[in-house]
Amino acid sequence: MQTRKVTAISCANIAFIKYWGNHDAKLRMPLNDSLSMNLDALTTETTVEFDDALENDEIVIGGEPADEKTTARVVEHLNRIRQEAKLNAKARVHSRNNFPSAAGLASSASAFAALTLAATRAAGLELGERQLSILARQGSGSAARSIPAGFVEWLAATNVTSTSEQSYARQLMPPDAWELCDVIAIVSSDAKKIPSAEGHAVAHTSPFLGERISRLPIRYHRVRRELLAKNLQGMGPDIETEAIELHMIAMTSRPPIFYWAPGTVRVMDAVREWRREGLEAYYTLDAGPNVHIIVEAKNADEIAKRVRELDAVQKVFVSAPGGGATLSENHLF
Ligand code: DP6
Repeated sequence: MQTRKVTAISCANIAFIKYWGNHDAKLRMPLNDSLSMNLDALTTETTVEFDDALENDEIVIGGEPADEKTTARVVEHLNRIRQEAKLNAKARVHSRNNFPSAAGLASSASAFAALTLAATRAAGLELGERQLSILARQGSGSAARSIPAGFVEWLAATNVTSTSEQSYARQLMPPDAWELCDVIAIVSSDAKKIPSAEGHAVAHTSPFLGERISRLPIRYHRVRRELLAKNLQGMGPDIETEAIELHMIAMTSRPPIFYWAPGTVRVMDAVREWRREGLEAYYTLDAGPNVHIIVEAKNADEIAKRVRELDAVQKVFVSAPGGGATLSENHLF
């Protein structure tokens, strides 16, 4: 017997306050609350169907069978969903990104958000946004934030009595509330990325983690307030500090993790220079060398033009705020 075929689309997201480190690694319950914006230019589409006739889960990404590690992680997530739906059948999962995977932007957030929505529906579950976010979080932490639309906050739930049910993402503002843009400068598309999971796992070995965690609540509330006030100048300095601090934790972990490339620093310098010239722009980084420049839409073309002129930059993507995980009729198989 085959279940219904379901396709879902999800956006990647860029965090202004970052997720780095878990207090429960298995359940992916983070050390701190985080804030992000979905990116409408970077999406994953995923089609899922459960089929009794399959002997194993069949995972295809960008037209190719997924590698062993990715397959194992997707199968683990499918198992969570099968358990909730009381279903035994294996699944056919086909997924593709709308951005070149060689750009070094491969995003587990959009992937696990789309997979969660498509697979739960295909399995016959009709979960609300909060339940989808809780489930997506267990596949990839940042995927929790790609379920709701627009500007999002993910509650960490860090009390000793907190349960998995309390750590989910919710919308702060819809995507059309603020014309903010992310101008993404690709400085290296090296596929040999260190997975963020490895960084989360060693975050506690940095002697500075405690300092970071103690400073975060004040920064979080300030960025949240300025975001809701749509004041880029108000939140910009904090989002830069936040990105540098995350990387400082990574660099001082054991073993140390260096995500930066020479081009990373060049772009950061350029953004500071443009700001001195009066162009309002602030950088942030994910677990990789590429630089995300946050600007208001009215300045996005000018910033993108300047970024393209930098020798260190190979490619530029410009993204507006994106929607949440949604269903689509455009099946991949
Ligand atoms: C630096 O969500 O990729 O982008 O839970 O292991 O899949 P896993 O980690 P992931 O970590 C994202 C780290 C980050 C910061 C952020 O997006 O908040």
